Amino acid sequence: MRMVDLIEKKRDGKELTTREIYYIIEGYTKDEIPDYQVSALAMAIYFQDMTERERADLTMAMVHSGDMIDLSAIAGVKVDKHSTGGVGDTTTLVLAPLVAALDIPVAKMSGRGLGHTGGTIDKLESIAGFHSEIGKDEFVNLVNKDKISIVGQSGNLTPADKKLYALRDVTATVNSIPLIASSIMSKKIAAGSDAIVLDVKMGAGAFMKTLEDAQELAYAMVRIGNNVGRKTMAVISDMSQPLGNAIGNALEVKEAIDTLQGIGPKDLEELCYALGRQMVYLANKASSLEEAEDMLKEVIRNGKALNKFKEFILNQGGDPSVVDHPEKLPQAEYRIEVLAREDGVVAEIVADEIGTAAMLLGAGRVTKESTIDLAVGLMLNKKIGDSVKVGESLVTIHSNRENVSEVIDKIYANIRIANQAEPPLLVYGTVV
Ligand code: URA
Ligand code: CA
Repeated sequence: MRMVDLIEKKRDGKELTTREIYYIIEGYTKDEIPDYQVSALAMAIYFQDMTERERADLTMAMVHSGDMIDLSAIAGVKVDKHSTGGVGDTTTLVLAPLVAALDIPVAKMSGRGLGHTGGTIDKLESIAGFHSEIGKDEFVNLVNKDKISIVGQSGNLTPADKKLYALRDVTATVNSIPLIASSIMSKKIAAGSDAIVLDVKMGAGAFMKTLEDAQELAYAMVRIGNNVGRKTMAVISDMSQPLGNAIGNALEVKEAIDTLQGIGPKDLEELCYALGRQMVYLANKASSLEEAEDMLKEVIRNGKALNKFKEFILNQGGDPSVVDHPEKLPQAEYRIEVLAREDGVVAEIVADEIGTAAMLLGAGRVTKESTIDLAVGLMLNKKIGDSVKVGESLVTIHSNRENVSEVIDKIYANIRIANQAEPPLLVYGTVV
């Protein structure tokens, strides 16, 4: 087999065979096929697309390029959840204990990563003592005993995806549905769960800016998952404005605690139910999505979800008293209010720009080497559709430095007040 022939085949819109796809991915992982040939192939895929069969094969070839996590020692249906990435997305912190409270095993690997805030692991580290470096045996024991553990990424998962994603980044081939879908799904499948719930974000703060694109990506990932034997469902959700009110690490932990008590922001709560009910349903714990949602509401009401969060923190070395005393979480030195300069209704809160404002405070990493300030971030006091009067606070800045004029400027530039506006739809649909 020659790589040049395979590039030509895809360039001309033909379908690659399973063997050809494995040849490419294996050769690329071992550095036997050079970057320039894989770049040309990625561009051909960008223009010619891939069939459903090719997408599944590409995904599995990338899964087999490295280690796969074996969760078979954990009893029950393991359900994972993945978000395509947004601003102030606190859902994992809520969903993991919420679903585990219904005896559904949550064996989650989570990342740190770059972004407006840290990843789930960073957020959890704002709880004193919490650690995510847990050995395989302890991880399995914790999930079998208490149904929940979240560990940092370890092992050599999907090295082919790492190489290919980095290459796509510099060859203008990131934005291709078959390449994005196989990239995300390969990582989820290698992480070992039996079922996967996807939160595909749409809007200013997301990869996918339009409903059509988000639907196409959701459909592509759900088809890949089901075609390779993992039950998969997706929700398409709004990311035009940040999710919930908190954007920041410790601030989001507090927001998650509120939500587990039933007093969190309405949009975050609604999305947690939309995703959580699919997780419960896929775990075979409910016979319909409606029944699944009722079960979730019950464990919030009776306190089991909150207790599960305490148990989880304690199991991983953290201080569970933060749940009842959130003031023990890292606190920023300064709180600065950004006041409305006109009357009206909030019409726009541009998610990615507001996320960048949080990052400027130190809530997220600019480069892999940056350190995060767990205490800082933003609290949105108004969301789209809320009316506001001059002098009312739009946003509270939590900062460890006094001068935040650039952050204030960014916030004013990205919150628009109009005469009238409606809150956006939160869930645009589900794909099964
Ligand atoms: N996220 C991924 O993991 N891969 C992509 O290709 C795009 C977004
Ligand atoms: Ca939030």
